[in-house]
Amino acid sequence: MHIANISLFRVQGLLRMFDRNVAVINNSRCSYKLYSVVGVFLVSIFVTFTIIYNCFKSSTLLYTFNENDVALYAPYLPSPKLKVNTNDVYAVMFDAGSTGSRIHVLHFVEDQTANSHLRLVASVFEQVKPGLSSFAENATESLDGLKYLLAIALDTVPKNKWEDTMIALKATAGLRLLPSTQAQALLDEAYHLFLSSPFRVRQQDVSIMDGISEGMFLWFTVNFLRGTFFDDSSSPVGSIDLGGGSCQVAFVPQNQDTILSSPKGHIEDINIFGKKIKLYVHSYLGLGLQSARLAMMGGKETKDETENLFHALSSPCLPLHHEEEWAFGGVEYTARGAEPTRRRYEECYHIAQDVLGYQVHQPIELQDQIVYAFSYVVDKIEESGFLGKNPEIDEPQQIKVQDIDLIAQRVLRHGFGYHDNSVLVLQKKIEDIEVSWALGAAVHLLRGDDISSSVEEMPSG
Ligand SMILES: *[C@@H]1O[C@H](CO)[C@@H](O)[C@H](O)[C@H]1NC(C)=O
Repeated sequence: MHIANISLFRVQGLLRMFDRNVAVINNSRCSYKLYSVVGVFLVSIFVTFTIIYNCFKSSTLLYTFNENDVALYAPYLPSPKLKVNTNDVYAVMFDAGSTGSRIHVLHFVEDQTANSHLRLVASVFEQVKPGLSSFAENATESLDGLKYLLAIALDTVPKNKWEDTMIALKATAGLRLLPSTQAQALLDEAYHLFLSSPFRVRQQDVSIMDGISEGMFLWFTVNFLRGTFFDDSSSPVGSIDLGGGSCQVAFVPQNQDTILSSPKGHIEDINIFGKKIKLYVHSYLGLGLQSARLAMMGGKETKDETENLFHALSSPCLPLHHEEEWAFGGVEYTARGAEPTRRRYEECYHIAQDVLGYQVHQPIELQDQIVYAFSYVVDKIEESGFLGKNPEIDEPQQIKVQDIDLIAQRVLRHGFGYHDNSVLVLQKKIEDIEVSWALGAAVHLLRGDDISSSVEEMPSG
């Protein structure tokens, strides 16, 4: 949701710029003449350019990826003027989420003075909707969106860096929920598209990512952008990420009790730029906003298509005569209201608690940590209007748990044991970079040794 806002802002910015230019031209007293001169000038430039382009086309296009695609989308592409020098390293990371596919084209500089640490200098972000899982029936149709995003990568990465640039696609909850043959068909299409591009791709890098890696990479991104890892005086912050299909939490426990009392598999020994860290990281599959909603309506996420034939849901959480279509994970549902046996709010509240209740381990220490919240936590808080008139969150905002809208509040209080005066930090961009697990995954792609753990990635097959 917030991503759409940001795109909208970019569009509004462009429109404002356009308005200004028009205003300047209107001010001119001989505007008609000016138009003609400018028109003739533009036409001649275009003709010259076309001739030159056609002469050089065959020699300059190194890749078999359909050249018309780039030309077709060229007017919409961002063209950041990035300086090229020999220490520049690029990485192209696709985030195939349940609601959309996003591209992050990341531009790092290797800092030779500090043990070749990577420093992020720029990031280009774009997304298409819907997500890959919507093309489960015909994987070929997913290519249009991916090609559009790939064209952005080709436009952003300087041509002399194409062959050295690694490209990867990591799919999250949306694809995890599909039958594996369908998920694999979608991954195969993406892999073959990448093979036809001039970038470097390995088959294992086009795969489904498990929730723990997702949580760990997001946590890495926040702290990387805050500079925590290169500054001994600051300690890492935690992260909570409420996605569509799962919810991730990650933080560095300061308290030995947290480490000892955590359930098996919640503590990872990770290596960050040569430092060993114990990270509490867990992914609650099925407690994403959409999948939890499905569970609350009595639906089950299933990989077996025969099991969910009617896709009819009913819930006392919806008004009695309400009926609506709802799509999630490639399945269409019809949701109806049902008669509650007690007050509707109470009944619904108990259902929510049941869904959460026995699934969530509460790490007590979490509420004493500085924690950054992302995705639907932020969207829900924004929707509720508590942030006032500052729709784009670039500066960190602090919010008390008691201010948060019902669903997110229940998750935080009953899920993670937050109390009314606990504080969360909301910040979508740090140093003007969109905070996403994609950055952490890209560093892992480039420098496996600088961010690694005992986490095994799920096989793509
Ligand atoms: C899948 O979509 C493509 C592109 O729209 C089409 O050419 C092809 O026939 C479709 N395949 C099937 C099996 O429907």
